[in-house]
Amino acid sequence: MLSQDTTISPDTAIREIAIARPGATAVFRRHRIDICGDGDTSLSQAALQRGLSLTDLQAELSGLAGEGDELPVEAGALIDHILSRYHDVHMAELPEAIRLARRVETVHQIKRGCPHGLADHLALIFDDLQGHQRKEEAVLFPMMRQGGGPMIGFPIARMLAEHVDVVEQLEELARLTTNFVPPQGACTTWRALYEMCRKLDEDLREHMHIENEILFPMFA
Ligand SMILES: [Fe+2]
Ligand SMILES: [Fe+2]
Repeated sequence: MLSQDTTISPDTAIREIAIARPGATAVFRRHRIDICGDGDTSLSQAALQRGLSLTDLQAELSGLAGEGDELPVEAGALIDHILSRYHDVHMAELPEAIRLARRVETVHQIKRGCPHGLADHLALIFDDLQGHQRKEEAVLFPMMRQGGGPMIGFPIARMLAEHVDVVEQLEELARLTTNFVPPQGACTTWRALYEMCRKLDEDLREHMHIENEILFPMFA
């Protein structure tokens, strides 16, 4: 399977990229490459058929890979990292996951293992996370950038409590997707969806870990 940090070769099949690289489905959709119909086509063939530059397409797909994980040590820089690596990424990826889930639930509604309720659950995660991140961005992080202060314990306690709720939502996400394992014979969209959910789970847990264990203690 294609790993996160490998460069995508021109010979790699569309299907393989869609499953291994979360976010790739959105790139393909933008370029009208059909991940089901064109699944067996190689990246270079798909680019040729759609009149796209292979180099640009490869660069776009490689840009989706996670970067190296040296965390900044200074609070302001760490906040910048959290915003660009997690807040922005969740907000960009969740609508695509919701869209894929709606499609899978509609097309495969009578199939065994169909994740009924997944799109609604992802939408709930999206709404709650939007509110949570807004509070961090508008209240907590600006306080931190100004050095903290005696009142900072209150917003921190509130965010910690909300993180506990997110963990519960992730447990439900794992249940709905049978721990991110699609049923045998699942189509490319279904598999790409579960891979996106797996990445969301991983990213969100990592995001909360950095806040709970590294950023918040700097001001406790
Ligand atoms: Fe956050
Ligand atoms: Fe948070």
